[in-house]
Amino acid sequence: MAGKSKVVYQCVECGYESPKWAGKCPECGAWNSMTETMAEPTTSRSASVRSVGGLSRPVPINEISTEDEHRYHTGLSELDRVLGGGIVKGSLVLISGDPGIGKSTMLLQICEYLGQSLRILYVSGEESARQIKLRATRLGVHNPNLMILTQTDVQYITEEIRSEKPDLVMIDSIQTMNHTELSSSPGSITQVRECTNTMMRCAKSLDIPIIIVGHVNKDGAIAGPKVLEHIVDAVLYFEGDRQMTYRILRAVKNRYGSTNEIGVFDMGEEGLRQVENPSQAMLSGRPKDASGTCVTAVMEGSRPILAEIQGLATTSGFGTPRRMATGFDYNLMALIFAVVDIRGGYIFSNL
Ligand SMILES: Nc1ncnc2c1ncn2[C@@H]1O[C@H](COP(=O)(O)OP(=O)(O)OP(=O)(O)O)[C@@H](O)[C@H]1O
Ligand SMILES: [Mg+2]
Ligand SMILES: [Zn+2]
Repeated sequence: MAGKSKVVYQCVECGYESPKWAGKCPECGAWNSMTETMAEPTTSRSASVRSVGGLSRPVPINEISTEDEHRYHTGLSELDRVLGGGIVKGSLVLISGDPGIGKSTMLLQICEYLGQSLRILYVSGEESARQIKLRATRLGVHNPNLMILTQTDVQYITEEIRSEKPDLVMIDSIQTMNHTELSSSPGSITQVRECTNTMMRCAKSLDIPIIIVGHVNKDGAIAGPKVLEHIVDAVLYFEGDRQMTYRILRAVKNRYGSTNEIGVFDMGEEGLRQVENPSQAMLSGRPKDASGTCVTAVMEGSRPILAEIQGLATTSGFGTPRRMATGFDYNLMALIFAVVDIRGGYIFSNL
């Protein structure tokens, strides 16, 4: 496209743009997050100004039909709950999480169930068709309605979507996708944002739900999913300890449901298994009659979950004791200490 591209500095955390470099982002305050990118005013502006569903005119709200508001069930009720009841037609969902946490596994896994009623296009820019096939075999996915496309050119992909007209599209991952009209390399903010915008227009105009995978990167070498959060309809974070097999899926943003719900999974040889009773799973293996531990109930969305809290205190050699909390709010802990100290009569000031 015509139009001279100029160098701008953009924050990888929030997408703030500035003609000058800064050590600290003036918008979100992140340090060392400003990276050099190419501004492409002609293509990105005109494209993003256009309506998401093609040309549209003002319509009275009571004339807009919502009858075919339909949700596709994924076969994983834990995932459905986090999505607010299933995948909404025409929505763009972002699934992100640490490397190797199981994003590709989850997407491929739900294809078996979804493929019974839908035609699915799985686009991968990360793995070869053979690799995907190997994983699919391990996960027991062999639905003929699942089509695999290994491609990174978004324009080619959207053409393919328009001609194939699948009922559901999965993009793994958005950082590998490439918009050939942009000069910057795949994974840069400009690319990631423009590719996501292209997918958004595709989802809205064809009314096809699209699920995209986004990588999280702390050092900011690849554009984090942060810049995408406001473009997409729902953002799901997949988290967990890599040493542990438990994985937790939570919605950070959802235009079609609550963001309080979590889904709990267990990663194994045949993929992700749903953990219907997370309390039981998390408390299993807890030593009996051990001191310094207690079990409490916490609300996660619409269901209560039993969690274990462990505490340990030793005499401090210093005047001010050092207190630490892991997985627990530090300020809340300080408050509880104060209450126990003053009201409970236990002296913690030198522990
Ligand atoms: N044979 C196996 N048995 C048990 N678990 C396995 C097996 N093969 C892979 N896994 C699990 O699957 C995880 C990788 O899952 P997956 O490739 O879906 O992650 P991802 O989030 O897509 O990663 P990436 O960011 O690299 O694309 C591994 O970390 C491992 O826990
Ligand atoms: Mg993957
Ligand atoms: Zn910023």
